[in-house]
This record gives sequence, C-alpha cells and structure tokens, in this order.
Amino acid sequence: MCGIVGAVAQRNVVPILLQGLQRLEYRGYDSAGLVVVHDKQLQRARSTGRVADLTLKSADISGHLGIAHTRWATHGVPSERNAHPHMSNASIAVVHNGIIENYEELRTRLTAQGYVFTSDTDTEVIAHLVHSHYKNGATLLAATQASLAELVGAYAIGVVAADNPAQLICSRKGSPLLLGVGKHENFIASDMSALLAVTKNVVYLEEGDVAEIGLDAYKVFDARGKPVTRPVQISELTNDSVELGEYKHYMLKEIFEQPQALANTLEAVCNSQSLIPGIFGAEASAAFAKIDSILILACGTSHNSGLVARNWLEEIAGIPCNVEIASEYRYRTSVSNPNTLIVTISQSGETADTLAALNHAKAVGHAHTLAICNVPESAIIRQSSLRFLTRAGPEIGVASTKAFTTQLAGLFLLTLVLAKLRGKLSQQQEQQHLHDLRHLPSAVQAVLKLEPAIKKLAENFANKHHALFLGRGLHYPIALEGALKLKEISYIHAEAYPAGELKHGPLALVDKDMPVIAVAPNDTLLEKLKSNLQEVRARGGELFVFADANTKIQSSEGVHVMQMPEHAGFLSPILHTIPLQLLAYYVALQKGTDVDKPRNLAKSVTVE
Ligand code: AGP
Repeated sequence: MCGIVGAVAQRNVVPILLQGLQRLEYRGYDSAGLVVVHDKQLQRARSTGRVADLTLKSADISGHLGIAHTRWATHGVPSERNAHPHMSNASIAVVHNGIIENYEELRTRLTAQGYVFTSDTDTEVIAHLVHSHYKNGATLLAATQASLAELVGAYAIGVVAADNPAQLICSRKGSPLLLGVGKHENFIASDMSALLAVTKNVVYLEEGDVAEIGLDAYKVFDARGKPVTRPVQISELTNDSVELGEYKHYMLKEIFEQPQALANTLEAVCNSQSLIPGIFGAEASAAFAKIDSILILACGTSHNSGLVARNWLEEIAGIPCNVEIASEYRYRTSVSNPNTLIVTISQSGETADTLAALNHAKAVGHAHTLAICNVPESAIIRQSSLRFLTRAGPEIGVASTKAFTTQLAGLFLLTLVLAKLRGKLSQQQEQQHLHDLRHLPSAVQAVLKLEPAIKKLAENFANKHHALFLGRGLHYPIALEGALKLKEISYIHAEAYPAGELKHGPLALVDKDMPVIAVAPNDTLLEKLKSNLQEVRARGGELFVFADANTKIQSSEGVHVMQMPEHAGFLSPILHTIPLQLLAYYVALQKGTDVDKPRNLAKSVTVE
C-alpha cells in the first residue's frame, strides 16, 4: 500500500527519495511523486507510471529537504492530480498514508475559507489545514499538531514548508512510519527497506507520535504533545535480503527461501530438548494457564494459516478454537469470553483490518492477546501482550509464501506448548514432534525439487479461465491457499472446496474445461478423497493431484499425478503448500502477469 520516504540532508536528497521509493514499490502503488524545497520554493514531480518514470520527471529537481510517496488509490482514481505530495498555496506540502474519515466535512469548511482543492483525495485537506495554522504564525510543528487534532482516521504523514529549508515534520497513527538517523542527515520511511542505503539506525514511532526532524537532531512528542525519548535501534535488515539476486521474481526467491526461513523460525526450539511457553513471551506461562479457548483473527493468507491451526489446536491440544476474518469480526456483535486467547496472525503486522480486530477484541474484554507476525516493532506486535516472531525475513512479493509456512510453524509450536500445558502431550510425543520439526526444512527442500515438473504442469493452465481446488480436513485450508495464490497472481478465477462439498453444488461446474487441483496426503481421509476425485473424473473434469507416496493414485488419461514425498503427518500442510505456490507462479509466468505486483493489490494493506 502507499509508501512514504522523506529526507533532510546536506546533500541533494532526490536520489535518496527515489531509491527509497523503489524499495517501497513492493507494497503496491499506482502513482508516485516527490517534493523538494529549493530556494524557498516547493518543486514537485508526479507520475502515474512506475518510480522509473518519476526518476525521469525529476531529473531537473534538487534540494536538501524533501518528501516522496507511492500512492495506492483509495479516494480518487489513480492520476497525476491525485498523486502525492499535495500542496497548499505553494507553501506547504504533505504526503500521507491511511484514510482521513472526516475529510468531507473538513473539505467543506476549508473551501468556505477560500481554499481551492485540486485533487479528489482525502489527503489534500491535511495540506490546507496545516497551511491555515501556519499562515497565522504557528511553527510548522505546532501547525501540524493542531491539524492532526482535527483529523479522524488513520495516518502516517510527512510535512514540509517552502520557507523552512531544513525541517521535516512527521507523525503516525494507525499507519507505519519510522525515523532513520544518520550523520548530519535524517530520514523518515514507511519501512526500513527504503533507508538501507543511507542508515541502519532506526527509531520506531509510537501511535500518535509527532516528530520534528532537522539535520543534526530530531525531537519526538507523544500524542499529548509531551517530549518523549524513543530508543534508537540497529536494523537487522540487510541489502541482500531485499534484493532479487539470481531470481527473476521475488516470489520465486521467497518460495526457495522457505527451508532457511523455517530453520530460522524454529531455531530456538530445535536447539532445545523441550518446549517452553517462554517462546511466546515472558508472561505466556501465566496467560496460557488461564485460557480455555482460542480465537484466531487474520486476513487472506494469514487467515488460511489460522484455519490449519484450528485443526491442530483442537486435535492435539484439545482446546476449542475459532477462526474469523478480521474485517468481519471487528463489526460483528460477538459473545466474548475473557478466558479466550486472541491470536492475530499477520505477515506485515500493519494490516488495518487485523489491527482493528485486535483492538476490538481488547475493547470487548479480551486481556490475553498473542501476535504471530513477521515484522518486529510492527503495530500488531507492539499492541499484543504475547508475541511470536516468524523469522521469514522480508517478504517483498505481494503473494505471501514464506510468511505463510513460517506462520504455520509458529502455530504448530503454539499447539504443542498448549498441549503440553494441558497434559495432552507425553514426553515421547513431544520428542517425536521436535524431531519432525527439525527435519522440516530438509523435507521442504526435497519438495522444492519438484519445480521442473510443476513448471511443465503449469503449461496446461495457460488457456484456462477457472480452476477448482479440493482438499479435506487439515488440507482444505491448503486448497484455499492454493486457490488464493493462483487467482491473485495469474488472474484465473479459482475456488477451493472441501472435497466432500463437491456434490452439494460445485460439481455442476465440472467439465473438460475446468481443471481440478487436489491435495491428496496419505491420511485418514484419503479413501474419501479418492471417491470425490472419481466424481470429478466421471464428469470429464481434468485432475491435477498432488499425492503423497503410497496413496496409489496413478496418472492416467485426464489425471496428472505429482508425486510428493512420504506423508509428513501433522506437518503435511506445510509440505503440500509448496507445489501449489510453484504452480501459481509458473501459471502466472505463462500468462505474462506482473508476478510480484499483481494488479489492484498491495503488499501491506494499511487501509480498511
Ligand atoms: C496473500 O498472498 C495476500 N497478498 C494477502 O491475502 C495477505 O495475506 C493479507 O492481506 C494479510 O496480510 P498480513 O499477513 O500482512 O496481515
């Protein structure tokens, strides 16, 4: 979703801003722009193309203070006039992520005061509001603070004034923003990847913080305007982790990083002889002792990982578990149980719907909250009482891959820890599970060897417009995830069903043009699944089956079988995810779509 970069330096900041925007491209955007202060004037360039187009357009611009933005349209179509930065009276420029909910009311009032609006965005009201205070003599900091007090909604903003050549004001509430601290230069950005070329020193702003940033110093004020100190941390992010290297796309790179990502995520556990609640935070023992049920809240792929976990939690730990789409839960009147552990799952930790669901859960009386997340210092991590960090490394491709499998690893650990605390896990079972987890990265590596065969298989999908994914039990959510991957990057309409549901409706869709992809582990539901596959074949549907060894499912006319390794028991969903990720990737390549930045989608969905 939208991305912000800002800089104040003794050197020309335009290259810094452009490089930062390039690094934020993965978040998804449809236009880009920047403003620099030069000779007491605001110089602006905007483009509806890629950041590369903006680079061409800003060739003649330079300055020592500037803000830049990639926009993912919410209010107003993607166009140059709606692209940020927005300006007021050639004096104030603003970039903004998030949504200002009361912008219409503010717009009416500002229009009555004589302000002329040149865009359809909610952001432009911020520029005029700041101007209205600044022109009356307030400092830029005070003018911004006064403006923020009038806004309802979520924001991360950067503000500069034409007559203030070395000062940048920024603030965040509900959208991510951090400060990068350099030597005689300072920066702001939506995420650290944008600043890796200029600094590793990072200050994470808290909700409601406002910062005044100069060349040699910066001051942070909390939501009430009180000066506060936020610690400077050293970012662990490296350039390599956000660069493509030998791969054609980030998605493929991230699929192949899964063995390492899983090894990193499981490191603490695999090096120890037993499972301890402490891996979820210091207060986990006490909290886990009080809970009697679990409610998982998440969106998209993260929701799918929650659906797998429900099966584990109920079967292995014997604890009741519900899973809800975060955007539904937050607006539903639900019956809350204070002994329920709320588990939010999010790759980015900034997803607005999940964050709002977490806050709703807290507001209705849930004290025990656990975040399973890939980004340390993200809002979801900071606002939860317990946390588990997946250590997948930065995920750039919009289609989530390694974040999903590492979430599953974290959720499996949660299951085992709760099972142990509830007396449902013998020492022998615990050791067996630890053994299986230690083996997991190499098991994933073995599945990745199917890549050439899956690439070939993908050719069958080049002319397809629809696809059905089938799974049962623990693997139904994997079918859902396979369908989500295929639709989001190849634009093929894909649906997933529990295979037993087929005859209750979707079977009507099956004919020779409807490929049916089945996840077929060698588990207790195998024979039932085989019958469901017969139902498809009998209607002329073409089957693509990912079958564990010993399932005795053979390739035949209209049946393509991809042989998986031995059945991996409870960890099987993780292995069965891999071929579906590869299938989606290679079908998208066939279709020639923009794999890493599929149309209309954003990596980090920071608006509702
Ligand atoms: C997955 O491929 C998606 N792009 C999307 O469904 C994503 O999982 C969802 O938006 C939730 O994001 P989060 O994990 O960062 O909260």
